[in-house]
Amino acid sequence: MSNSQIPRVLSGMRPTGQLHLGNYHGALRNWIELQQSHDGYFFVADWHALTTGYEDTSQLQANIRSMLIDWLAAGLDPQRVTIFIQSQVPEHAELHLLLSMVTPLGWLERVPTFKDQQVQLKDRDLATYGFLGYPLLQSADILLYRPGFVPVGEDQVAHVEITREVARRFNHLYGGGPEFEVRIRQALKLLSGADRATYQELRRTYQETGRAEALDGIRDLLERQPPRVDAAARALLVDYPHGASARILPEPQVLLTRTPKVPGLDGRKMSKSYGNTIGLREDPDVVARKLRTMQTDPARVRREDPGEPTKCPVWDLHQIYSDEPTREWAAAGCRSAGIGCLDCKKPVVDAIVGEVTRMRERARPFEQDPGSLDELVRDGARRAREVAGATLADVRRVMHLTREGAP
Ligand code: TRP
Ligand code: SF4
Repeated sequence: MSNSQIPRVLSGMRPTGQLHLGNYHGALRNWIELQQSHDGYFFVADWHALTTGYEDTSQLQANIRSMLIDWLAAGLDPQRVTIFIQSQVPEHAELHLLLSMVTPLGWLERVPTFKDQQVQLKDRDLATYGFLGYPLLQSADILLYRPGFVPVGEDQVAHVEITREVARRFNHLYGGGPEFEVRIRQALKLLSGADRATYQELRRTYQETGRAEALDGIRDLLERQPPRVDAAARALLVDYPHGASARILPEPQVLLTRTPKVPGLDGRKMSKSYGNTIGLREDPDVVARKLRTMQTDPARVRREDPGEPTKCPVWDLHQIYSDEPTREWAAAGCRSAGIGCLDCKKPVVDAIVGEVTRMRERARPFEQDPGSLDELVRDGARRAREVAGATLADVRRVMHLTREGAP
């Protein structure tokens, strides 16, 4: 749904293999909610997977496809949002290269994940150029689409932060001068005569008085414009009152995903590396069996022993999957030993089995016809390249990589 009036969001995920309920509640579910109200771009960050997993790439294609199917199974809708694979949009690589020219090494070395991951993944040699550049590749991923928001979890906030710094530096270096004046004039020409006069009046007011209402007025005026006044022109006109540096690459904001605690089968956080997961498309019988043997409050050894829900990982699942009356029933029954753990688990088992069953149904057409998935991502890449190509054309122009007026 590419409509210049609705805010754009962009996010990506590394293809790590089969997604589980932790991934779903941690990110994917949020993307699916956003697709109702936003112009969404969601992509498989396959190049990012190489930054740590370059030694053995044999599973890369399988992981990419299974993650794409998981997205579709969970309800991401290619009619509403653009779904694509990073490496099929080479513009990401070119912008990464160009940004690398202006990014001080210290900025990258200071990103917390750089040192943390090197410690955590001690078995791999991460003293590579590609790994150091991880956040900058991510910056390119983001800035190419000029999104207003980047929905991510806490662990990615530092990466969006460096993206903003890189954008600011880029705009400072290349956003000013006669170039900028020309582009402003072009953007102004897209407005009607009356709107242009109003805009100039508001801009003057803001510059003379600093009143925020003048900026609001400008924003309202721009919101009323037809699609002919495209996102780039709007961004330029929003910025113009602030001075002589254009937002060629607008600074995006973090949209922090609120994430529930998703416990794994052993009570620790659900994570592939703990082997305690429930896959989004796992066999419902297996899912039911896994849940029935899932860890509960260790104090409830026998059926007659009362338990304490807050010490039980099943309780965390009730928070996600049960309504208030069910939760009250479970908590009271647990504390009084009125119900057994299997009784308590039943509503959660039903809800999760129902969820994975629905996901398996949505996935089936893509599993049965692999060509349809190819087509879907080909179309996604085509749409992504239109947007990315336009940004890159601006970037090249302001860096004087294209000759003014050349075809
Ligand atoms: N680094 C992100 C992660 O590990 C994945 C990612 C790559 C991403 N490029 C992005 C997320 C751009 C948001 C925007 O989860
Ligand atoms: Fe956990 Fe429910 Fe058993 Fe209490 S009754 S320990 S909340 S599973």
